Amino acid sequence: MSGVQDVTASPGRCAIIMVLGIRDYKKAKPKILEVCGKLEALVRSELNRFPDSATGTVLAFGATAWKKLFKGWPVPEELSLFEPIEGEKHLAPSTPGDLFIHIRSGRMDVCQELAGIISQSLDGVVESIDETHGFRNFDGRAMVGFVDGTENPTGDDTKEFATIAPDPQKTGKADFSGGSYVLIQKYLHDMKAWEALPVEEQEKTIGRRKYNDLELSDQAKPENAHNAVTNIKGENGEELKIVRANIPFANASKGEYGTYFLGYAGKFSTTKRMLQNMFQGDPPGNTDRLLDFSRAVTGTLFFAPAPDYLALLAEEA
Ligand code: HEM
Repeated sequence: MSGVQDVTASPGRCAIIMVLGIRDYKKAKPKILEVCGKLEALVRSELNRFPDSATGTVLAFGATAWKKLFKGWPVPEELSLFEPIEGEKHLAPSTPGDLFIHIRSGRMDVCQELAGIISQSLDGVVESIDETHGFRNFDGRAMVGFVDGTENPTGDDTKEFATIAPDPQKTGKADFSGGSYVLIQKYLHDMKAWEALPVEEQEKTIGRRKYNDLELSDQAKPENAHNAVTNIKGENGEELKIVRANIPFANASKGEYGTYFLGYAGKFSTTKRMLQNMFQGDPPGNTDRLLDFSRAVTGTLFFAPAPDYLALLAEEA
């Protein structure tokens, strides 16, 4: 089962990711609120027809869209325009996006049906900035051939890391608990350079064995391995995690092979620190070796409200 605004779900077999720009806020608002109100029923219908499809959708808003659509409403604390992260060698750019729709399912036809219905509902008031169709690659491997998602939180931890914790001081419209900050980045891989790299060097880049996903020992793992720079701890030594729903995509005839990074977090500061470690390095200069073969071409931050907050928004219609 998945459902509406389930930011803890696994990436799924198939995904459609849509990033939309709002053309005319006045005309768009009622249509967007209508979508907020009907998403749950749309997904419920798909799950009724295809009970094993693990279908789910997440609808999220960029900072500008939130402020313009919901004037006078509180703004989630960490929701702002994503600021580019620039290191000496690498850049995480910031690119536009007002609405983000993440559809995942065991079936591409179901993803497609939902994408079609949502797009028809928003016809004429939004424009497509990007639409990417992704797929599960073999046993959950990223396009670079390594199993992705192993160190994702599991069980109750997924909710703890992916969503905002309840705060008794905050009620009604100010209660963003259960909501999630979604950072998305589309990466293109230099597959020629990557495939020219001996497997042992690829393993040192990711920090795990390629065939069986085994983590490299501390002695064997370089400081600039991907899983070394993204493994971060809080002030009291506790592990800080996010829920990654990365999905590979490809356009073989164009030679385009990529990873769509989707990071769901209750605290955007956690995702941001991981990005700073990757792109600038901690200590500075110790940048992620995976970036020598992967270029971020987009970067946008959104806020995905919890299901009951989505219903609250729909009541505005
Ligand atoms: C080019 C894009 C990316 C690819 C192909 C990729 C792939 C991978 C792979 C194969 C692993 C090892 C298996 C696992 O534990 O999941 C991993 C781990 C991880 N990645 Fe990425 N990743 C990408 C971007 C990112 C970004 C942008 C972030 C954070 C902002 C991130 C955060 C993490 C974290 C937290 C881990 C687990 C580290 C640990 O072992 O504690 N990844 N990634």
